[in-house]
Amino acid sequence: MNEQLLLGQTLGFGADPFAGGWQAATRHSAHGAVLVRDGRIAATGEASDLRRAHPRATVTDYGDALILPGFVDAHMHYAQTGMIASWGKRLIDWLNSYTFPEEMRFGDPAYARGQADLTLDIALANGTTTLASFCTIHPESVTAFFEAAEARGMGVVAGKTCMDRNAPEGLRDTARTAHDDSKALLEAWHGRGRATYAITPRFSPTSTPEQLEAMGALWAAHPDCLMQTHLSEQTDEIAWVRDLFPTARDYLDTYEKHGLLGERGLYGHAIHLEPREIDRLAETGAAVIHCPTSNTFIGSGLFDMAGLKARGIPVGLATDTGGGSSFSMLRTMAAAYEIGQLRGTPLHPAQLLWLATEGSARALHMGGQIGTLTPGAHADLCILDLASTPAIAQRSTRAEDIWEAVFPTIMMGDDRAVRAVWVSGRPV
Ligand code: GUN
Ligand code: ZN
Repeated sequence: MNEQLLLGQTLGFGADPFAGGWQAATRHSAHGAVLVRDGRIAATGEASDLRRAHPRATVTDYGDALILPGFVDAHMHYAQTGMIASWGKRLIDWLNSYTFPEEMRFGDPAYARGQADLTLDIALANGTTTLASFCTIHPESVTAFFEAAEARGMGVVAGKTCMDRNAPEGLRDTARTAHDDSKALLEAWHGRGRATYAITPRFSPTSTPEQLEAMGALWAAHPDCLMQTHLSEQTDEIAWVRDLFPTARDYLDTYEKHGLLGERGLYGHAIHLEPREIDRLAETGAAVIHCPTSNTFIGSGLFDMAGLKARGIPVGLATDTGGGSSFSMLRTMAAAYEIGQLRGTPLHPAQLLWLATEGSARALHMGGQIGTLTPGAHADLCILDLASTPAIAQRSTRAEDIWEAVFPTIMMGDDRAVRAVWVSGRPV
């Protein structure tokens, strides 16, 4: 039996650190170990105990480095890797000027595969082992992403981004083709290996009511799939939605009316919400995905983490590249912290790390499978060097506890802090 034993500091969670307080939720060991067998975590515990119990396991000693679950990026656009960091526009102009021209290129399977490979390699270098990605309207773009992930043993979520209006010629499908192409893709990929399909209407402004209806019918027929879209990101976007859907009660209602509100729904951004929208999200158990570097980069607004968590709404954390300005979930946690500060509700490092791992995993309905060091989960791991640069090292050496040791890496770290990454029980 091939067993691998990873030694280092370990950090995991027994509960949501927003719910009962981070102290009780956290499991930290300064001399911990993770036992990996057949691609899964077989045990997590004290190094001395696991060494004694598994003397034949192959040992990799990461010293003082911190063994975490791999990061889970719950909302991103792999087709926007090529135009990340495009200057000076707000959402709708940004889409038209930068995003749509780039997404147009993904009808070419070779280009799509190249960008999928590139994006997944950048993600892995940053310690991200699962991504939920929008693709483009081209079915080829979905196939390319799932194939690239499968080649790396990664569990990913993806779907064909559907648009049948307010997008340029060449980037529009129809209600019928969106339904039929998505159906063929989900039948091919959902549940194949570690792949999960998400039905993906881009956002209400780029779908007719007929297309939203067709997507809702598809989700009703395949309720085990996820559904991902965007919600209430910018105020001018919301005003546009009001014009396009004059009978809708609010933005969320444009989805709700068409069968696109449910527990397995993922709503990116969700910044400028009405009380009714918050009530309905809470009642249905739908998840919202916080994309902090995107929200500052495109100038969208300040997400209300404290308020939405207090309502029991599942929240995931995400880069939203290329609207987001970084592939790093460390940088993303730092931005979430800064937005919390601007709202007067700073997040504890335990809450940030939980969001980037288990919180996102739960939002994707993959709790217990990823984003955790619990036995039975996929052995997707990120090992962080907590002294990766001189600036970080001089601070972390003064640390008096694990939080002071890890917070400088959250705030100042990047891919240099990622000492090693394991996917499905193998180092990459
Ligand atoms: N809303 C609709 N499409 C997009 C997108 O690609 N990025 C972001 N940030 N918001 C969107
Ligand atoms: Zn997005």
